[in-house]
Amino acid sequence: MDFPADLIRLLSNAQSMAVLTGAGVSQESGLRTFRDSQTGLWAQYKPQDLASPEAFAREPKLVWDWYAWRREAIKGVRPNAGHYALVELEKRNSAFTLITQNVDGLHQMAGSRQILELHGNIQRVRCSNCGCLAESWDEQSQEVPRCVDCGGLLRPDVVWFGEPLPRSQLEQAVQAARSCGVFFSIGTSGVVHPAAALPYSAHNQGAVIVEINAECTQLTGKADYFLQGKSGEILPELVKKLADTASR
Ligand code: APR
Repeated sequence: MDFPADLIRLLSNAQSMAVLTGAGVSQESGLRTFRDSQTGLWAQYKPQDLASPEAFAREPKLVWDWYAWRREAIKGVRPNAGHYALVELEKRNSAFTLITQNVDGLHQMAGSRQILELHGNIQRVRCSNCGCLAESWDEQSQEVPRCVDCGGLLRPDVVWFGEPLPRSQLEQAVQAARSCGVFFSIGTSGVVHPAAALPYSAHNQGAVIVEINAECTQLTGKADYFLQGKSGEILPELVKKLADTASR
């Protein structure tokens, strides 16, 4: 893939970088995205039917089972070349922040370090009452497992529709968007706020916006560079180009 020479020059000299990722980054690991009409996770359900406090209050077992199914589905899944390319990009940039909406834990598995998980992590489970993280639980239970400390129902440690994002993670993400020189938006439809506002905060302070997506999104018209295609193909080639340029 050819990249604009000025983009390579800009990335080679970037002082600080922030990256926002969405489900598209994990698509080539075999994980469904949320809004692909045919195969998306939501295709069989409406988000409000599963990923909201109201749904959990109404049908805790349905919601628990859906996340148990997703944890099981993730067990055999591994990071793809796009995840590993982001690890390399982090190594090349001292001021680098990875902001992810993904709850699959694949960035951690690939070796990324400066990660902000805006929407939580599906591998973690916490008590819906006292909030403490559960060390273990009976996956075979016919009932929703309960907290050993207070007896509250356990729930996935993810952010549901209508819930606030973890304050510290969001504040650090906003700070990174407001101070970076380059902001990447990769594999996200950019429709869920407040994550979707981050690229605009970056743009408003003068950061260069680079979008990598299989399709155009609402951000594309605002991006300085739009690299259309699969992140698992584009990112490794981009990082290789940067390495080749640096070694000249
Ligand atoms: N490479 C790059 N982009 C891809 C790829 C790929 N291989 N496959 C799909 N995409 C793009 C799609 O074009 C789409 O723009 O990834 C994006 C996925 O968008 P969504 O399915 O909406 O996922 P995401 O943006 O992460 O959703 C944000 O919404 O449902 C909530 O909490 C959930 O974190 C999620 C949030």
